[in-house]
Amino acid sequence: MKNVVNFLFSLVFIASCSSGSNSDGENKEAASTPPGKVEQSDPKANKGIGPVSSVELGEINPEMAETGKGLFNARCSACHKVEEKYIGPAIKGIMDRRSPEWIMNMILNPEEMVQKDAIAKKVYEEFNMAPMANMGLTQEETRSVLEYFRTVN
Ligand code: HEC
Repeated sequence: MKNVVNFLFSLVFIASCSSGSNSDGENKEAASTPPGKVEQSDPKANKGIGPVSSVELGEINPEMAETGKGLFNARCSACHKVEEKYIGPAIKGIMDRRSPEWIMNMILNPEEMVQKDAIAKKVYEEFNMAPMANMGLTQEETRSVLEYFRTVN
């Protein structure tokens, strides 16, 4: 609970810094980036912030996807459903709206993503400030989850 409170405080702090630093900065930003702009300009160009800078996608590897499915059901399904939105967004279609690197960084580094990445911030707001949880997956486990996402996309 304390962590959540600290986290919210830091968000408020960041928000107040960015709007306070320049008196008309807010207006300029609003004019150049209307709501939804981030998503409309190629969102898949965004690789997010975190340890993953490049992912090669070949043929779907069924074994890896199976491992990912098990991890997803055990660690993620409390908040995510494949077909519909729940506590977090639906998984279906994710490969069309996000880059594979972004998805992995979101799973491995959600705290920083939600604070600094334009898309993650927006999704966080859309989901009523419910934060994506860091489930402590390894990079390899995260790659398996990504493989599973490819099979349900
Ligand atoms: C405690 C609830 C919770 C758990 C557990 C959780 N998530 Fe999330 N997740 C969210 C919420 C809420 C969001 C949207 C808000 C945000 O981005 O902070 C989200 C966002 C995401 C996104 C971005 C979706 C999009 O459309 O942009 C991905 C990908 C994701 N989660 C994957 C996972 C995976 C994989 C796991 C398991 C390892 C997981 N999540 C576990 C709550 C959760």
